[in-house]
Amino acid sequence: MAAAKKAKSRKRSAAKKKTARKKSVKKTAKKKAIKKKTAKKKVAKKKTVKKKAAKKKTAKKKPAKKKTAKKKSAKKKAARKAAAYSPPAKYPISFTVNGAQVDCEAAAHTTLLYLLRDLGFTEVKNGCEAGDCGACTVMMDDIAVNACCALGVQAEGREILTVKGIGTVDNLHPIQKKFIEHGGIQCGFCTPGMIVAAKALLDNNPRPTREEIKQGIAGNLCRCTGYVKIIDAIEAAAAETAT
Ligand code: FES
Ligand code: FES
Repeated sequence: MAAAKKAKSRKRSAAKKKTARKKSVKKTAKKKAIKKKTAKKKVAKKKTVKKKAAKKKTAKKKPAKKKTAKKKSAKKKAARKAAAYSPPAKYPISFTVNGAQVDCEAAAHTTLLYLLRDLGFTEVKNGCEAGDCGACTVMMDDIAVNACCALGVQAEGREILTVKGIGTVDNLHPIQKKFIEHGGIQCGFCTPGMIVAAKALLDNNPRPTREEIKQGIAGNLCRCTGYVKIIDAIEAAAAETAT
């Protein structure tokens, strides 16, 4: 009996040892598998980090390329423009100013105002360059025009009259005399255009009414006199010159 018990206990201890061994083997296998997984994860992480860094680099590099390309194309365009540029063509024109012959050249876009002032007729005033103030008024073939709204080339073959052609310092025109007598002049900036407009009015209508005088100088602005004295002066000039 005792021998049988001993044999049984030996069997049990052997079985226990076996199961213990199996468990330890399983544990080590699990540990190894976990280690492998973590190692794989690390490698994967490193790869993704590297990929991201590479993407960033390429993203940074791309706009730089674009910028240089843009600069190059802009330079090319500028070079093409410079090569294609030719100064504006000038046209020969002949006309008279206050009875004197003028032969010159003018670009197609040059206004009559700039042309006359460049030729030395600075009595033609530059006020607004937009047809609003009338300071640049001259007569072109007996018609009052804003020189800033006409082209220089339009003067070809025409007669231009400025305020200096209406009367001289020693021999004033009645309109000029009456402007002085009635105080129709203060700073004088509007005066050359105003007198030319009055001359055009009286040439066409020697005895205008006050209303017609107002209409005749409607395109001429004066910042100083308030117009009453100017209208009085033109009315008085009409009374003197009309026959
Ligand atoms: S400058 Fe010509 S209308 Fe004013
Ligand atoms: S007098 Fe000065 S703007 Fe007419």
